[in-house]
Amino acid sequence: MKKIKVALLGCGDRGCIYADYSLRNPEEMEIVAVTDISDLKREEARVRYSLPEDKTFASVEAFIAAGIECDIVIDATMDKAHYPTAMALLNAKYNILLEKPVCPNKEELLDIQKAAHDNDCKVIVCHVLRYTSFYSAVKKAINDGKIGRVRSLELTEHVGMAHFIDSFVRGKWNNEEECGSGLLLAKCCHDLDLMCWLANASRPKFVTSLGFRENFTMDKAPEGATELCFDCPHEKTCNYSAVKIHLDRDTMPFQTWAGIGKPIDTITREEKIEYMKNSAYGRCAYNSGGDIVDNQNVIVSFENGSMGTLNLVGACAKAERYLHIVGSNGEIEGVFENNEFKIRMFTREGRRYGFDTEIVDTTVGSEIGKHGGGDNEIMRHLMEYLRTGTPSLSLTSIDDSVEGHLCVYAAEMSRKEGKTIDLADIRA
Ligand SMILES: NC(=O)c1ccc[n+]([C@@H]2O[C@H](COP(=O)([O-])OP(=O)(O)OC[C@H]3O[C@@H](n4cnc5c(N)ncnc54)[C@H](O)[C@@H]3O)[C@@H](O)[C@H]2O)c1
Repeated sequence: MKKIKVALLGCGDRGCIYADYSLRNPEEMEIVAVTDISDLKREEARVRYSLPEDKTFASVEAFIAAGIECDIVIDATMDKAHYPTAMALLNAKYNILLEKPVCPNKEELLDIQKAAHDNDCKVIVCHVLRYTSFYSAVKKAINDGKIGRVRSLELTEHVGMAHFIDSFVRGKWNNEEECGSGLLLAKCCHDLDLMCWLANASRPKFVTSLGFRENFTMDKAPEGATELCFDCPHEKTCNYSAVKIHLDRDTMPFQTWAGIGKPIDTITREEKIEYMKNSAYGRCAYNSGGDIVDNQNVIVSFENGSMGTLNLVGACAKAERYLHIVGSNGEIEGVFENNEFKIRMFTREGRRYGFDTEIVDTTVGSEIGKHGGGDNEIMRHLMEYLRTGTPSLSLTSIDDSVEGHLCVYAAEMSRKEGKTIDLADIRA
């Protein structure tokens, strides 16, 4: 079996998740170089992937100048760095596994798409949900014609409370200006990608959206709430207490404590408290300095007349992605986290119309790692593709990923400008 050579750019949480495939499957994949602007992250990755010093780089320019040979580069830098790093890599003729979101606006997106074509390079976007057993089985059922022509797609994403607070209220995606994207792009470019992918061979046409920051605003804070949770009279009862979520429960520690700049297992409780007092991680959730929406709805209509809706709510009791697709011959309904969906197909038995129900169990394949197995599966599909040249049903080119991203940009325009957006205008 040909061993695929991979370079890692951006050695943070996501980059190492993908690169770790080489540790589980050393006969398939090898990390040949690591690049990160952070000395700490670069050194941690160098040790993790057993590399010599001269295979580590402090910038994408230094990596390119070294002329490292590899089959693909994982670009898992933060959102705003995707465009400059991806363009540099493509112009140097490297294939890229690029973290989502590709970039915050359509000009950069279309530039990356064009650079990929001009340089004859592959750009695979990390839409990891497509690779899960749940969504790939849904796609296969649709492609097999089980429900006929897709007429309606109803998707929800309920972001769990602690995750929402850690990432989008106090974390690095809490501010549209700073992180370069709103909630929809940061969290739900997956869902709009899935919607376009499952809509099957019909392009999105019109997009409309409403969204508000309706919960995490000062006027919703309990009376007498203080700026920092440590001093607050409501700390013991508030759902969003920073003391409870970050210090005691230690939700997403790799993210919460990244700003301290030390290996996580060496950080003391006192250092965490000091950090919280001087960052958003100690602040009242209603007054965290963030500005992104916590509640948004999107409606997409497709060229063939089918329609999709996405209901996005932040800080829910249960994290859940629900899906209900109605077709001309039946329907599919399920919850991603339950690893099971139902296919109902019309029958013509007897006097009344009824339906048969088939239950599809998608547990197998969902066990390894995060995102219901998607983080591991994308790497497995990618290795196979780079070895054989044949893409799987889930693995698609940048051309295909463009549609979901365009829907996100259009939805954000619609939300901000209060009008329905014709995607022809955006494409133009
Ligand atoms: N696919 C998914 O489901 C999913 C989930 C979470 C995050 N993400 C995305 O993954 C990306 C990375 O997120 P993360 O949580 O791993 O962030 P992170 O901060 O943990 O890692 C990013 C790393 O990139 C490095 N970096 C930044 N700019 C760089 C540059 N110009 N050159 C080289 N290195 C650079 C940083 O020092 C850091 O080590 C983001 O775009 C994020 O939106 C995707």
